[in-house]
Amino acid sequence: MRPVMNDTEPLLQLRGLCKLFGDLQVLRDVDLDLHAGETLVVLGPSGAGKSVLLKCIVGLLDLNRGSVVFRGRRIDTLSERALVPIRREIGFLFQLGGLFDSMSVFDNVAFPIREHLRADEATCRDRVAQVLSLVGMEGGADLMPADLSGGQRRRIALARSIVLEPTLLLYDEPTAGLDPVRSDVVARIIRRLQETLGLTGVVVTHDIALAKKVADRLVFLHEGRVHLVGDRDTVLNSSDPTISQFLAGTSDPHELEQA
Ligand SMILES: Nc1ncnc2c1ncn2[C@@H]1O[C@H](COP(=O)(O)OP(=O)(O)OP(=O)(O)O)[C@@H](O)[C@H]1O
Ligand SMILES: [Mg+2]
Repeated sequence: MRPVMNDTEPLLQLRGLCKLFGDLQVLRDVDLDLHAGETLVVLGPSGAGKSVLLKCIVGLLDLNRGSVVFRGRRIDTLSERALVPIRREIGFLFQLGGLFDSMSVFDNVAFPIREHLRADEATCRDRVAQVLSLVGMEGGADLMPADLSGGQRRRIALARSIVLEPTLLLYDEPTAGLDPVRSDVVARIIRRLQETLGLTGVVVTHDIALAKKVADRLVFLHEGRVHLVGDRDTVLNSSDPTISQFLAGTSDPHELEQA
């Protein structure tokens, strides 16, 4: 039975998350709350641990320490089997989209329905048509992924990640590799999903234009730590040197040596 949540309880609570790969400590005591209906943007440089953080939330990676509580229930200790229904509620848009190239757009988007629901073909068609229209790709069902531009592929991947009507969607770099106009389309879709479906979102990105458009709150992750969290304008106007350097896009001389 699902524990009863009161209105003020966060949808997702991360406490003391630590993740190591060998000697490399990627997440260091990450604490975060996510409230129902909001879009939280996670900004931070490459290698800061953003993708690892998302994977730890849904149990694709095991934590070394800490806890993940979703809807009042601890989920980081669940078995793979017990995680199956949780993963229906928490959608994941992978960093590179991850479409199956041998399947049509329709079959790609219908895949989670066929895996998780005992839906008849008509229901499946309706649901696919509905999500394709939400991402502005109605009429694209019969295309193959190879026929799509990068921006269209991203939209189809998005359609697939919302087809099971998740409560929470984790977006990993939803605009990576897209030009500014296509990125703006993705930003509008993220807003639309929040407004029409009430979808709660965690958007991992280093696209500052996207962050400005979709964030209710922002967290700046640096070297695996929460460097600053606050409402959008507080973080974007911060005078903290690490953040202002990131926002201005200027590099330190030592970064040239590492690149
Ligand atoms: N499965 C893994 N095994 C070992 N190291 C890993 C693994 N996944 C990630 N890492 C390491 O963890 C660190 C953080 O990786 P992560 O992918 O979270 O970065 P990121 O903030 O998402 O960066 P980007 O903006 O480039 O996507 C990196 O040093 C990476 O090499
Ligand atoms: Mg990443």
